[in-house]
Amino acid sequence: MIISSPSDYRAAAQKRLPPFLFHYLDGGAYAEKTLRRNVEDLANVALRQRVLKDMSQLDTSIELFGEKLSMPVALAPVGLTGMFARRGEVQAAQAADRKGIAFCMSSVSVCPIEEVAPLLSRPMWFQLYVLKDRGFMKNALERAQAAGCSTLMFTVDMPTPGARYRDAHSGMSGPNAAMRRYWQSVMHPTWAWDVGLHGKPHDLGNISRYLGKTVGLEDYIGYLGANFDPSISWKDLEWIRDFWKGPMVIKGILDPEDAKDAVRFGADGIVVSNHGGRQLDGVLSAAHALPAIADAVKGQIKILADSGIRNGLDVVRMIALGADCTLIGRAFVYALAAAGQAGVAHVLDLFEKEMRVAMTLTSVNRIADITPTLLVPES
Ligand code: FNR
Repeated sequence: MIISSPSDYRAAAQKRLPPFLFHYLDGGAYAEKTLRRNVEDLANVALRQRVLKDMSQLDTSIELFGEKLSMPVALAPVGLTGMFARRGEVQAAQAADRKGIAFCMSSVSVCPIEEVAPLLSRPMWFQLYVLKDRGFMKNALERAQAAGCSTLMFTVDMPTPGARYRDAHSGMSGPNAAMRRYWQSVMHPTWAWDVGLHGKPHDLGNISRYLGKTVGLEDYIGYLGANFDPSISWKDLEWIRDFWKGPMVIKGILDPEDAKDAVRFGADGIVVSNHGGRQLDGVLSAAHALPAIADAVKGQIKILADSGIRNGLDVVRMIALGADCTLIGRAFVYALAAAGQAGVAHVLDLFEKEMRVAMTLTSVNRIADITPTLLVPES
């Protein structure tokens, strides 16, 4: 199979992965309306073509929270990344590092913080969920800080799990008999080697370090299921803001009023996100929600955005809509599943090339010049 564009990796990943993992990655909540809107609304953003300006000195880099990124892209926190390729977090993080961009580790990763952070030339970012088990949160924050992580992404759009019916059908949302059957049936030697199972369940690194025992996928789903905390409010976050020394970014903002609350709270940034369409189906796409949020808080707080970005052109679109930086989720994990670290490196190169084409043909030399003036006004 010839891989020439980022979207080719989705099909390659589907060939490679057992169905329950592919659908866990690819799927969204309920009828997946928001998942589709994320992609379609971005793809429908029209840019103004401008020509005959000297575009030979194009620079895709940005500075964010005192760090230089070679392009306005970071790898989003994706739980269980280490199941899509052997020691998947290591592979993805190294590809990001070599490209000069940040890797954000999910708190529910396979590889623990301590395994990945020391391998990188730049500080790792770390993502945390709100969990009833505040002991886990504190332990994870301490360990992330000790490992030199810089930016904390605090994910607030998961006080309760979304209704993900693909996971229910595939056996992923266990622990249940269907999932156990799946685990047994997917121990095919070809991919068991590739994804590092070797006949054993994975150990969920960060949680097992905290609990002091091996935590397989079933234990993890049970632990997480019992630990969502719908009681959470801004007040509960104050100890984290006071504890964390680096920048704190609130991930999962979709409304200008919540964005203003994040500014009042003293956050350094927000991620405009609907969790890739995995939480509440029917909410606005990130691309649709972003301009009003940028109107409300741009310049007062850094605005990151994700959900639906599938190529470098989408990155330029998201920035034109008001983002300072973007995160990519599925786009890098499809590549990781299909071709490991080399796949992630390749997809990041493709993103950069596509960004350069988009910047050249809209006549912007620097990311800071990508503004709403690039958008074709709605007719
Ligand atoms: C996620 N996402 C996510 N977010 C988070 O804060 N912590 C997490 O552990 C996860 N886990 C996770 C698993 C999988 C399989 C996916 C696809 C996504 C959401 C992620 O960070 C990001 O917001 C979305 O993936 C962005 O949408 P796209 O780029 O996938 O369309």
